[in-house]
Amino acid sequence: MFVPLGAIRRELNNLLSHAGFQLLRPGERDHIRSYVPFKETRDGARKAGLSVGDYIDQKFHVPGATQSTIDQMVGLGILGPKIQSVCEIGPGTGRYLEKAQRSCAPCSYEIYETDREWSDWLSRTYRVTARVADGTTLRGTSSGSVDLVHAHKVFVYLPFAVTFQYFSEMIRVARPGAWIVFDIISEKCVSDWMIDQWIANRTYSRCMLPRDFVIAYFDKRQCFLHSSFLGPAPWLSEYLVFIKDRNP
Ligand SMILES: C[S@@+](CC[C@H](N)C(=O)[O-])C[C@H]1O[C@@H](n2cnc3c(N)ncnc32)[C@H](O)[C@@H]1O
Repeated sequence: MFVPLGAIRRELNNLLSHAGFQLLRPGERDHIRSYVPFKETRDGARKAGLSVGDYIDQKFHVPGATQSTIDQMVGLGILGPKIQSVCEIGPGTGRYLEKAQRSCAPCSYEIYETDREWSDWLSRTYRVTARVADGTTLRGTSSGSVDLVHAHKVFVYLPFAVTFQYFSEMIRVARPGAWIVFDIISEKCVSDWMIDQWIANRTYSRCMLPRDFVIAYFDKRQCFLHSSFLGPAPWLSEYLVFIKDRNP
């Protein structure tokens, strides 16, 4: 009896999904990076008596790290009452989403999160619309429809071409006059000490992006650098803030 391999794989994946595993062909998910496990993180936060976002800050960053970036965005006039529609790539635990929603109360907040458990949890916990996240596009979002499109700690580890595909998608979905905000590991953020740390800790996923090249990429597409600032230590990254031309 001939049983197609695809059917076997589907059947095995159904079984494996209960244990959180999946069979993949080599290279099939190269464009998607893994993230902290959902259940462990949620339970850890509960035990620590913290919100999931504050728990992530405390465990992997510094307490208050998320809020300090949100404060910068409020200070620059990015987050405020005028923002009605937001799109976020890779929100993870939702630590930025939660605080951004408080600052601007948008009518629509779309997310593209490739980790299904986190995406489902975010949809249950916050007023967001989880779009199908294929790992490279924002295909569920109409062109020129959002006031703010942002991503945090996502383009610090995605492969180069994936990041640029997302950049072009961010430009597409932004309406004229909209904000495009994200952080990268630019030349300003990398030091010999940091490279030594990555090697010592076997942290091989970090990707540096050339700052001027990124700015020129947006500039050529009528999105102009408004400002930039360094994200909080110790995970140094640089935020770039663009505005899409009002009269493209
Ligand atoms: C380092 S985490 C940052 C999470 C969150 N933005 C934060 O700062 O806490 C990167 C996030 O991007 C998601 N991700 C990984 N590959 C992705 C891809 N190709 N497209 C969209 N999101 C992706 C991960 O599941 C994770 O939620």
